[in-house]
Amino acid sequence: MTHNIAVLDGDGIGPEVMAETIRVLDAVQQKFGFSLHYTHADVGGIAIDNHGEALPASTLQVCETSEAILFGSVGGPKWEDLPPEQQPERAALLPLRKHFDLFCNLRPAKVFKALVGACPLRPDIVGNGFDVLVVRELTSGIYFGQPKGREGSGPDERAWDTKVYTRAEIERIARMAFAAAQLRRKKVTSVDKANVLTCMVFWREVVKEVAGEFPDVELNHIYIDNATMQLVKDPHQFDVMLCGNMFGDIISDEAAMLTGSMGMLASASLNSSRFGLYEPAGGSAPDIAGQGVANPIAQILSGAMMLKYSLGYEQAATAIEEAVAAILAKEIMTQDIVTPGVTPVSTSVMGDAIVREILT
Ligand code: NAD
Ligand code: IPM
Ligand code: MN
Repeated sequence: MTHNIAVLDGDGIGPEVMAETIRVLDAVQQKFGFSLHYTHADVGGIAIDNHGEALPASTLQVCETSEAILFGSVGGPKWEDLPPEQQPERAALLPLRKHFDLFCNLRPAKVFKALVGACPLRPDIVGNGFDVLVVRELTSGIYFGQPKGREGSGPDERAWDTKVYTRAEIERIARMAFAAAQLRRKKVTSVDKANVLTCMVFWREVVKEVAGEFPDVELNHIYIDNATMQLVKDPHQFDVMLCGNMFGDIISDEAAMLTGSMGMLASASLNSSRFGLYEPAGGSAPDIAGQGVANPIAQILSGAMMLKYSLGYEQAATAIEEAVAAILAKEIMTQDIVTPGVTPVSTSVMGDAIVREILT
């Protein structure tokens, strides 16, 4: 069976880590007997350079005729001086999420055994590792709420965004979080700021109501400021963290670093019909782009999530995860995750090692 996949490398380290991901996906196709047909298209800064806009109609068309989107990352210093609404993040990534109604962003932050030493937490805190799933609402909240605007001049010049959630939006992301928790340790912690924001008072109420549909799952509520602190104090207390769009963005970078590096955190952005966009939680990493040193694991594991969630190849996804665990155990590590005494390898050497591990 052949599946059409849209491959949007984007900017910075995007093309470097995507190349290794395609090689890994090719290896599992060979081993598990299915076939992916990739169509590459420009997105983000490279699309501005080549086509004059960050999300050309031709790229959207490729996505629409595919079963899933593999996405690298967009943005970088070259495009930061464009008007905000033309910049890659706002003109490509957010519209793609909205267009396909990708409301459910899953960001699994799990420490591989071999990387416990790369976690910045004290060994007695991290223990043998932790396993947190951030479930982030991705198509609403302050990112998309209207009105947004800017006007005036002088000391009265002002700018504003609006944080808004509807009941239906909260209910559907909460259901995803509870359903995910049922397959894990059956605990949801909803992250909000209900002590200050009206929208978050509503969020808390609706999440409580949805909890009634999942009596086997324990629900707790925590304020975002306390959540960021508790995550470094004792990450083991969390199973599923349910967050709105912006708090989920912040918590997921913190969770990523606790797994050893920004380069480790994969993500799936799903709609209600198994269609998904799969991208690392981190960005285009301009500080290391073009050097061949980026960690490809977040992108590779995003590819594994695509096999699992959009295409239903669980075994192939597991084979990728196991290969990653195995090469890390052999201390094959890029510079962002090396433990003392280990010589870092390049992006492509790490890709080679994962491919070899899968095929042996
Ligand atoms: P970033 O995630 O790109 O980088 C933060 C730090 O993490 C940097 O030191 C970087 O080197 C490191 N890092 C990230 N991924 C890594 C990897 N795979 N291997 C090794 N190290 C890695 O965040 P930033 O610097 O705030 O943003 C840079 C650009 O990326 C901005 O334009 C931002 O808007 C954009 N961005 C895009 C996405 C996306 O497209 N999904 C996500 C986040 C940020
Ligand atoms: C992420 C990124 C994006 C976000 C940016 C680039 C728009 O930080 O996917 O976490 O804030 O959602
Ligand atoms: Mn982010």
